[in-house]
Amino acid sequence: MSEGKGLSYSEAIEQAKGTLYRFPLIPVRGIPLMNHIANNWDSVWDFRPDPSDLLIATYPKAGTTWTQEIVDLLLHNGDAEACKRAPTPVRSPFLEIFSPPPIASGLDLLKNMDPPRMIKTHLPIQLVPPAFWENKCKVIYVARNAKDNLVSYYHFDCMNKTQPEPGPWDGYIRKFMQGELAWGSWYDHVKGYWKEREKKNILYLFYEDMKENPRREVERIMRYLELSVSDEVISRIVELTSFEKMKENPMANYSCIPAPVFDQSISLFMRKGEVGDWRNHFTPEQSKMFDEDYEEQMKKVNIPFRTRI
Ligand code: A3P
Repeated sequence: MSEGKGLSYSEAIEQAKGTLYRFPLIPVRGIPLMNHIANNWDSVWDFRPDPSDLLIATYPKAGTTWTQEIVDLLLHNGDAEACKRAPTPVRSPFLEIFSPPPIASGLDLLKNMDPPRMIKTHLPIQLVPPAFWENKCKVIYVARNAKDNLVSYYHFDCMNKTQPEPGPWDGYIRKFMQGELAWGSWYDHVKGYWKEREKKNILYLFYEDMKENPRREVERIMRYLELSVSDEVISRIVELTSFEKMKENPMANYSCIPAPVFDQSISLFMRKGEVGDWRNHFTPEQSKMFDEDYEEQMKKVNIPFRTRI
């Protein structure tokens, strides 16, 4: 298996070891992005997808990997072996990611793939390369309630040694509220795609809905992609994309990215996969402060987020 330039991720990370550290964030049109992304921004912005390409867009930790797995299985009629052909970031490249060489960038991987491709992004809608809209590509957006999203991001930033130092939990909550984490404000991100969803034919999904009734959401994705798979295959896809199954699947659990990038001895990528874990992290005071600010930041929209199911 080749992950670009003939090296697996582990081999490339091993070679790049001396150049890996917690990358600083540099604003691109006001959005803080890792310096390697900011330094290569023009090539991301100029990316031209094929009209058949699909974009899976999320704020980090909203359920991207889960959705990528569902889509891949739908495209392969539930064939589990076909979907183990490579790890998630190779099957579904991360559009804007750039790391020190020889780690393959998202654009490197995409260059070597034939459309239709399943492309991942965390970019807010205003930073999505315009050719996606010109070519009327399908776009699936997945949103997760702010509190669980924040908890998941905190654990991720502890274990992903190329993201900025998360610092203490209390300060992390404030950084999230102020839009200072990588990829910027969660509030602006979810609102940006929400406002455009009808005009741009974006399928807007919620993590909580996927947990509550995965079958219904898999069928929703199937219809959006204009696919038709049997009920039996849908059942198989629901089973194969359960948290437990994906946690054990080396092609979906990010064990392909070893320390010093993902140190899963600190926190697993497939960490908990639940709705409502925020209650184990927020104190009552933190929750109150967060909710008051949330009301303010979200007052002009009515996006039906749920913090429990
Ligand atoms: P937790 O940290 O709350 O466990 P992303 O793929 O966008 O980085 O999101 C990762 C989050 O989605 C993690 O949340 C991870 O456990 C969760 N996740 C991944 N696969 C899942 C699945 N099949 N079912 C439920 N949650 C899943």
